[in-house]
Amino acid sequence: MLTGKHILLIIGGGIAAFKSLDLIRRLRERGAIVTPVLTTAGEAFVTPLSVSALAGSKVYRDLFDLTDEAEMGHIQLSRVADLVVVAPGTADLMAKMATGLANDLASTLLLATDTPVLVAPAMNVRMWDHAATQRNARRLADDGVALVGPNEGDMACGEYGPGRMAEPLEIVSAIESRLAAGPLSGKRILVTSGPTHEPIDPVRYIANRSSGAQGTAIGHALASLGAEVVFVTGPAEVAPPEGVTVVPVQTAQQMLDAVESALPADAAVFAAAVADWRVQGTSAQKLKKSKDGLPDLSFAENPDILEHVAHLEERRPALVIGFAAETNDVVENATAKRRRKGCDWIVANDVSEATGVMGGNDNTVTVIDDAGAENWPTMTKSEVARRLATRIAEALN
Ligand code: C5P
Repeated sequence: MLTGKHILLIIGGGIAAFKSLDLIRRLRERGAIVTPVLTTAGEAFVTPLSVSALAGSKVYRDLFDLTDEAEMGHIQLSRVADLVVVAPGTADLMAKMATGLANDLASTLLLATDTPVLVAPAMNVRMWDHAATQRNARRLADDGVALVGPNEGDMACGEYGPGRMAEPLEIVSAIESRLAAGPLSGKRILVTSGPTHEPIDPVRYIANRSSGAQGTAIGHALASLGAEVVFVTGPAEVAPPEGVTVVPVQTAQQMLDAVESALPADAAVFAAAVADWRVQGTSAQKLKKSKDGLPDLSFAENPDILEHVAHLEERRPALVIGFAAETNDVVENATAKRRRKGCDWIVANDVSEATGVMGGNDNTVTVIDDAGAENWPTMTKSEVARRLATRIAEALN
């Protein structure tokens, strides 16, 4: 619930602005007080009257409206809120925020505020992928601004890809976890999850049996303790958790790129089952059966994402946690892996077929850190996740 929480909602000029009307409704249903700010471009997509009617509040529209300044100065307006939410967060608003421009009410409020800010980016896929926007997103993360979305999907402009604004209920969850007074509030945590798919040709790929269940449970548990979670996931069987920023990827290389873009973070949990190898020289055309024999596939080694992040000189999260899925000599192998990869903790488990861990509900893990090995009893993956999240909160506080 958001009873009594004050949200300053900045509505930028994008087609997704229509979803912000629903967002206002959802926030008010949960007891939040919403003060809306509509940019000039936003007014091209939703009317001040509908925003005001849904919010049950005056809409703030122009920096130089002297009546507003007399009622509530823009500095004060920026500070009464518990959270400032920018939805849709257009490329333009993100660029202004990243450079500290203040040439209208919305950007001035964003520069003047001392309350946490959450942005729900929404733009055309090419605009989102553009180096400038990616640079701005990284800059905003460095400045402590939280992002929810964007999601991948069909866009109003007819293209497909990342850029769709997160759905109102996802934004509500992100707001709830930002405002949750949990032991991880204010902490940004990166989680990798699921398998990776390494293409052979346009229709075939190499995969593994990871369902993404443990990584998803960890993302959920961290968000429930108030963390801002960036969840980088391969094509998993289970749906990603609510209230986190989901970054979907297919391959190990894409996962590495997404992880690098998500830094800095206070902690990183590498629960993904990343393929060790990819097929070198993947075919642009579907490989055909031939009488001349079998296809000759050669492999290249994938980057080790955990090892890479654990050895970063700058931007290494204070706490780096790896997983070790072993089928024999679990603790010995995992202890050696922890040293080799340079992570702080390693969560080791036995994934031999008889244990039913892969795709199953339960997990029996040993957590290895500087102090040695700690055996946890068999419990559900959700319980493992909650206990791990609590241990992370203790370590970061
Ligand atoms: O070497 P192995 O795959 O057993 O190591 C498992 C740990 O390393 C997991 O935490 C996994 O997420 C991470 N890993 C990675 N990138 C790879 C391979 C593994 O991040 N290419």
